[in-house]
Amino acid sequence: MTNFNSTFPKTRLRRTRMQGWSREMLKENCLSHSDLILPIFIQEGENIKTPISSLPGVSRLTLNLLLEKAHEAYDSGIQAIALFPVIDAALKSPAGDEALFEKNLICRAIHALKKSIPGLGIIADIALDPFTTHGQDGIVENGEVVNDATVEVLCKQALVMAKAGCDVVAPSDMMDGRIGAIRDTLEKHKFNDTMILSYSAKYASSMYAPFRDAVGSSANLGKSGKHSYQMDFANSDEAMREIAMDIAEGADMVMVKPGIAYLDIIQRAKTHFNIPIFAYQVSGEYAMIKAAAANNWIDGDAVMIEQLTAMKRAGANAIFTYAALEVAKNI
Ligand code: PBG
Repeated sequence: MTNFNSTFPKTRLRRTRMQGWSREMLKENCLSHSDLILPIFIQEGENIKTPISSLPGVSRLTLNLLLEKAHEAYDSGIQAIALFPVIDAALKSPAGDEALFEKNLICRAIHALKKSIPGLGIIADIALDPFTTHGQDGIVENGEVVNDATVEVLCKQALVMAKAGCDVVAPSDMMDGRIGAIRDTLEKHKFNDTMILSYSAKYASSMYAPFRDAVGSSANLGKSGKHSYQMDFANSDEAMREIAMDIAEGADMVMVKPGIAYLDIIQRAKTHFNIPIFAYQVSGEYAMIKAAAANNWIDGDAVMIEQLTAMKRAGANAIFTYAALEVAKNI
């Protein structure tokens, strides 16, 4: 690939960088509106917008405001949104039963969105953490998140989401075998066209803190982490095994998460597998950029585009980012 015959001064790489038009023309990667997926936090009530202090510019929205936001996103060229529910503490339980209630907040949101904007892709998270009193993604027995019992519940949750009309179910829990089990469940109930976006390489990262504030799971989670199911950030081969298994089990798309510190994983996955790779610019990444920008230490808009473009350059086909709307308006 490298042109080893290039020598100075016959080759001056600065030539093509001299003018704006040629820099634009020779750009190898650019962000487009359809690359951007907007995650939205939703809450009960009417006309309430609750800012999340650790996630500047992001609020929990009630359903009427969710619809407004979704229209704004769709009108600015965003093709899909991802929904995350904020569940009232009184509705949380150790087994996260509210996740399976067919009239729960998230189901009502999906119905309303599909009725109002049929062309907008709806991605529903599959995991129990917004619904559990302990803040873990699955069922806890003897202090441990148990795999197989959790997978059974996740299958039911995925079916509830598919029935509600979501286009994509996105298991973000990292249990073993859940993609195959969810795929079988969907097939059995004739949801053949419901896509699965698997969070295949999801790392146990300290960058999820603002998200946990947003869904109200951080206090419940306390000091207990998610290291028994999310991946060790020291590992890369293991991510390839996770992705390979999820593809074999029926995933349509796979996620690498977080984003900016994991570009090597995105690139390696893109090189090894012929499946769409998604990246998640997680809450902590977004918050760091916003915090530095608020201090005038960096140009926040420029850094945002730089980091999201880096994820595309690494091989991401689409990116979850809380900045999707502002970026869509800037590009
Ligand atoms: C949980 C889930 C998390 C995120 C998305 N889904 C948090 C966690 O694993 O604790 C994090 C997203 C972010 O930080 O923006 N199922």
